[in-house]
Amino acid sequence: MSKKIFAANWKMHKTPQQAAEFAKNFLTKVKDDFFNHNEVMIFPQNFSLAAIATEFKNSKVQYGPQQIHTELKGAFTGENSLELAQAIGAQICLIGHSERRQFFHEDHTAINKKVKLCLEKNITPILCFGETLEDRQSNQTFDVCFKQLDEALTNIDTSKRLVLAYEPVWAIGTGQVATSDQVKEVHEKVFQKMQSSSFKNFQILYGGSVKADNAKELIGIPHVDGFLIGGASLEVDSFLRICYL
Ligand code: PGA
Repeated sequence: MSKKIFAANWKMHKTPQQAAEFAKNFLTKVKDDFFNHNEVMIFPQNFSLAAIATEFKNSKVQYGPQQIHTELKGAFTGENSLELAQAIGAQICLIGHSERRQFFHEDHTAINKKVKLCLEKNITPILCFGETLEDRQSNQTFDVCFKQLDEALTNIDTSKRLVLAYEPVWAIGTGQVATSDQVKEVHEKVFQKMQSSSFKNFQILYGGSVKADNAKELIGIPHVDGFLIGGASLEVDSFLRICYL
């Protein structure tokens, strides 16, 4: 059985100092044996990535950027390079978060390139997908989710590790968590789809208003391999309550 994954998406929050304080506090509270059965992933805002790298350097906590450019280097003012993140120890990278798709018009061609780039550089991509409320209400959930996955995973090396994060857009930051039946249905179908597409090493996270009180039920659902957590990951204690369900 693969380890459970607890991933924190800090979005545009936390100064480097606040990020370092979180890391120190987290490391004093988490037990070493926790990592025998679980993985912890932190996605800080870019200015705080170096501070996080310093604090977590000798720990089992993984960290990486929330978004990268499709090229590794060059004249791309304002963009983030995967290679530079890797130079400070990044092992993971968030790709295709709905806020990137929605506000920054990240399209499927770019998302597919970013997944490939991560795999080439031996960085684990955490690929987000999920439907809007409109999609769900018009019974398009599976069409939309499968389309996003097909586009993002075109010509991908199926032997490499890949982490998917099912995040219904209507559940992100709204306090409106998906029901167990909704999560179960999507995770089951996505699991089958990935298996029939020959992917061998993948996990599927759920994300969207995860808190300690709803996480307990969700973690028991088949093929829910962990969570991608926004708001509730910003404080050490609320994040740890989810890690130690
Ligand atoms: P939330 O965010 O937990 O605050 O809903 C999740 C995410 O956007 O990844």
